[in-house]
Amino acid sequence: MRTNLDRLINSAKEAYQRAYAPYSNFKVGSCVLDENGNIHNGCNVENAAYPSGSCAEEQAIGTMIANGGRVIKEIVVIGKSDELITPCGACRQRIREFCDKDTLVHICDIDRGYLKSFHLQELLPCSFGPENL
Ligand code: THU
Repeated sequence: MRTNLDRLINSAKEAYQRAYAPYSNFKVGSCVLDENGNIHNGCNVENAAYPSGSCAEEQAIGTMIANGGRVIKEIVVIGKSDELITPCGACRQRIREFCDKDTLVHICDIDRGYLKSFHLQELLPCSFGPENL
């Protein structure tokens, strides 16, 4: 478990370093482990037209889908902050679309390393998802 998580965290760190965040100066990296054991990175990509920017989790999930993954088994979010950098509301819903009841969201800090894990249910209780349609 730990070795696997270390691999995800290291991969998310690489994405963090590549983040494009010249407006907020708040870089975020993410890494998804899918149901096939494949990992997919993402970073935030900001835009001069601010609302056109995207989150690291959004990018990582999009990459997973484009590469054939369909289930997020684990997802790492890494940034640099004194606070826990948990996914924004929209990204919680994006994770919800592809999670199962065991999916873990790992929150990490670039300096302090691994901090805390959540089940999606804790971050987005009473959620709406594919089964509701
Ligand atoms: N951001 C993410 O990429 N993921 C999060 O979980 C929180 C926020 C990005 C969006 C924006 O580029 C910057 O961080 C500041 O909000």
